[in-house]
Amino acid sequence: GEQPPIPVDPLRLVAKEVKFLASNIRALLGSGHPTLDTVAKYYTQSEGKYVRPTLVLLMSRATAAAPKITARDPSSTRKPPINSAISPSGVLADVNPTRPIESPDADASSTPLSDPSRDAVYNSATSESDPDILPTQRRLAEITELIHTASLLHDDVIDHSVSRRSNPSANISFGNKMAVLAGDFLLGRASVALARLRDPEVTELLATVIANLVEGEFMQLKNTARDERHPVYTDDAIAYYLRKTYLKSASLISKSCRAAALLGGSTPEVVEAAYAYGKNLGLAFQLVDDMLDYTTSERELGKPAGADLELGLATAPLLFAWRDNAELGALVGRRFAEPGDVLMARQLVSRSSGLEETRVMAQQYVDEAIQAIEFFPDSEAKCGLIEMCTKVMQRRK
Ligand code: FPP
Ligand code: MG
Ligand code: MG
Repeated sequence: GEQPPIPVDPLRLVAKEVKFLASNIRALLGSGHPTLDTVAKYYTQSEGKYVRPTLVLLMSRATAAAPKITARDPSSTRKPPINSAISPSGVLADVNPTRPIESPDADASSTPLSDPSRDAVYNSATSESDPDILPTQRRLAEITELIHTASLLHDDVIDHSVSRRSNPSANISFGNKMAVLAGDFLLGRASVALARLRDPEVTELLATVIANLVEGEFMQLKNTARDERHPVYTDDAIAYYLRKTYLKSASLISKSCRAAALLGGSTPEVVEAAYAYGKNLGLAFQLVDDMLDYTTSERELGKPAGADLELGLATAPLLFAWRDNAELGALVGRRFAEPGDVLMARQLVSRSSGLEETRVMAQQYVDEAIQAIEFFPDSEAKCGLIEMCTKVMQRRK
């Protein structure tokens, strides 16, 4: 009989890589200004989940053995990836993506951005580590975490958040102005690192992600600020919510999976599959996030629970409940602002099928994510990508 497959822990598969990632990110964030340095690195101190980098690293490994474009491929408009020009040690004078970022000016107030000893560690790590992951893909993983962290810094200002990752949020510890500027600084450093990849298509993808994050946040605010007093439920509400969710959450995950495949020189079919995987997983990830906001305690989440209704936000569980409880329309219209609204909405949601329907919808996206990469050659990393889907569905925080 067939042996049952040994379950793969996707985090262990790339655990070593993720360990170096955290310190590399800190190296990318060095600033000569002590306060900026502290605020910029603040969220890198508490261990995040590193979902996006983990996905990029797994996708890089999983596509390593999948079909590749060749330099002579007439159907390809892409130049061969620069990885082919990088020596195994990751050293190449001009386009080496692992080169420390230097200050462009000699101004004493903006000191070198990373100290050489740190980068020595980084380079030795890259030369010894997984040959299925290219230096550019490793850097991409760091860039995704930088963009994500920048968006959290800004998000916590917008949401008046008080805690993140079981610590006071940056806006609380340093004030709104510092938190916004630190987020901008992270985006700046992410952009420099992106430019260093010397890949215009990947640069365009990740620049689009930054715009998408803002568009998603705008859609959320606009929805929140609806002035219609008694909106009636239509399926447009779910469609709008899913579009917003793509922009806010799935864009970064899907486009970075796509970028990982591009950097590896994958064929268009593989690139599309990587994108489809990331898009579906990203949508599922946020659906589960919006479900946990109703079902999990602040203690477990490491950030306030039940925050969405307090912010006036109608996410999937509430939208499904609204479909079956027309009286929720008035509460949606006034953004749950009247005394008792939040409690009433919470009760109607918990008595409805909204939470279960949200879970089912997330499961459908996860199933599509798995289906998208079915044709990839079997590998540990492919199992890891599948296991990430299970993790997303099972996560408690
Ligand atoms: C977390 O959502 C926030 C996001 C996923 C993106 C927020 C985007 C912006 C603030 C636009 C600015 C973007 C950049 C790149 C600077 P949430 O509030 O639902 O999650 P939470 O519960 O973790 O706070
Ligand atoms: Mg928030
Ligand atoms: Mg928010």
